[in-house]
Amino acid sequence: MQTTTPDTPLNLAVLLGSNREGRFAPVVADWFLARAREHADFTVDLVDVADADLPTALSHAPGPAVRAALAEVGPRLAAADAFVVVTPEYNHSYPASLKALVDWHFAEWQAKPVGFVSYGGVSGGLRAVEHLRQVFAELHAVTVRDTVSLHNAGALFDADGTLRDPSGPDAAAKKLLDQLAWWAGTLRTARTTRPYAA
Ligand SMILES: Cc1cc2nc3c(=O)[nH]c(=O)nc-3n(C[C@H](O)[C@H](O)[C@H](O)COP(=O)(O)O)c2cc1C
Repeated sequence: MQTTTPDTPLNLAVLLGSNREGRFAPVVADWFLARAREHADFTVDLVDVADADLPTALSHAPGPAVRAALAEVGPRLAAADAFVVVTPEYNHSYPASLKALVDWHFAEWQAKPVGFVSYGGVSGGLRAVEHLRQVFAELHAVTVRDTVSLHNAGALFDADGTLRDPSGPDAAAKKLLDQLAWWAGTLRTARTTRPYAA
């Protein structure tokens, strides 16, 4: 896909969706972040659910600790022109920690594109991604068709966290980022020109 590099870089927030003890997530995230930072159209911010640490119990009157966590992460989501969710698959879906991050916010997602990098066992996280598409549709976000899907992800990387054969995943990441840039640039212009009718 041909894209025209935007005058102002697009803000890409990469959401890291696992907070599991001993998680594999950083290996996948580090590889994808390097691909995203190579892409001319984006500046990249990593939002890690393990750092955001938002509770699954939602509240209209959260206490000081949750308010502080929201004050830290909310503006970063609001500043994003695009999101990539890096998610594992747990029991055919995505982690509760990721759902909490999504549910504590609303307008931050609106009229913005969301791409997916998924990983897991045999499924490569594909079922987690299909569930997330439904969630983001409810939030007035658009999800990008092409994804990166790492099947039996642990075996794809060596002990240093380097992909044994990067050709397929690198090509998939490039395609995802190109499609995401098209949507992010188009929707940023649209949001500026005309308020979204949520
Ligand atoms: C509770 C749990 C459920 C899982 N369910 C699935 C599954 O349904 N499909 C799959 O392909 N892998 C499944 N896996 C494997 C994970 O996707 C894989 O271990 C992945 O690396 C977990 O990501 P994390 O280490 O970053 O948390 C499951 C793992 C856990 C811990």
